[in-house]
Amino acid sequence: MQTFNTLLPPDFLALRTHLVGDHSDSRIERLRLDDLSPGDVVIRTRYAGVNYKDCLSLHSQARIITSFPRVAGIELMGEVVESSTPDFQHGQPVLVHGFQTGIAFDGGFSEYVRVPAVHVQALPENLTPHEAAVLGVPGFTAAMALERFEDHGLTPAAGTVAVSGAGGAVGLVAIAILARAGYRVAAITRRMEQAGSLLAAGATEVVDAAVLGQAQRPLERARFAAAIDNVGGPMLSWLLRSMQDGGSVASVGNASGNTFEGSVLPFVMRRVQLFGVVANAPWPQRRRLWARLGGDLKPNFATLMPHVQHIGLHDLMAHTARQLEGSTSGRALLTFDDQ
Ligand SMILES: NC(=O)c1ccc[n+]([C@@H]2O[C@H](COP(=O)([O-])OP(=O)(O)OC[C@H]3O[C@@H](n4cnc5c(N)ncnc54)[C@H](OP(=O)(O)O)[C@@H]3O)[C@@H](O)[C@H]2O)c1
Repeated sequence: MQTFNTLLPPDFLALRTHLVGDHSDSRIERLRLDDLSPGDVVIRTRYAGVNYKDCLSLHSQARIITSFPRVAGIELMGEVVESSTPDFQHGQPVLVHGFQTGIAFDGGFSEYVRVPAVHVQALPENLTPHEAAVLGVPGFTAAMALERFEDHGLTPAAGTVAVSGAGGAVGLVAIAILARAGYRVAAITRRMEQAGSLLAAGATEVVDAAVLGQAQRPLERARFAAAIDNVGGPMLSWLLRSMQDGGSVASVGNASGNTFEGSVLPFVMRRVQLFGVVANAPWPQRRRLWARLGGDLKPNFATLMPHVQHIGLHDLMAHTARQLEGSTSGRALLTFDDQ
């Protein structure tokens, strides 16, 4: 391995998840580099986005991790401290997400991470490391959904785009990205006390998710040209019933559960299209979308920053438990700024 004059310490802190019986058990441990899954690039982690999927892993709510012990954290932003490939230089800011990071490879909940070079991406142009971390998987996912809408012919003139789970990480960044792209955005939330901050993030209207309890018709008022659904369950059913003719719904998340009931009427009466989004994209799409996130989709970060919370390794288990209950909001970044 090509080594640099590095400050890599003999050991470092990580939150590592073990399988005990049929439950996961996550503990802060001191690890050495060779405790981590193999790779060509060693990264000093600055930020690791805390995603819903990580919450499920850390609290045994779903079998996400495929082999144990494992450091969870499906995305990270940091700088290279060792590299065996000339593609990455000492001190270079890089990001990693997808490719089974935090699942089959050790992920971001660690002061240092070792990663196969083919998983590593240079910091996209026109974004600071902190901005790229704020966007992370949520921003990339929202951009993927928007690109699919565009492929289906969506333009701002077509009408309003709905975003459910609006107060969550994907929801907020999706609002900001859609607003930047010129769309009218309906933010759907269970917490109407957030309405002011959702409008400030770029929403043009805020819809109380309680509307679902009053709406039972096979087809509701056609009010959305497209929708990003982070919630699943009755929300996804309601969105499908509330689309305009030819509308598109991106199923992104399952914050309220995995199943939903519905009828074929939105499809056969209004030509509604439903598709899934998976943020683990191949390289050409990754590069293209990250370039757009630093370009024509670059959101107004000033409106997002009030929703970004920086937490430490010791806060991670408590924070992820609250996130699973649905009582957090915005984007949480595990932050190692003060190493
Ligand atoms: N497909 C992909 O590649 C991909 C990528 C990223 C995330 N995701 C998924 O997308 C979803 C959202 O991710 P996230 O990072 O935004 O999560 P998050 O930060 O935890 O936000 C989820 C939001 O959903 C709403 N919510 C939570 N529990 C709910 C419930 N029981 N019923 C109805 N609404 C509920 C809340 O919004 P309000 O308080 O505003 O109602 C909450 O803020 C998750 O399921 C995640 O796994 C998928």
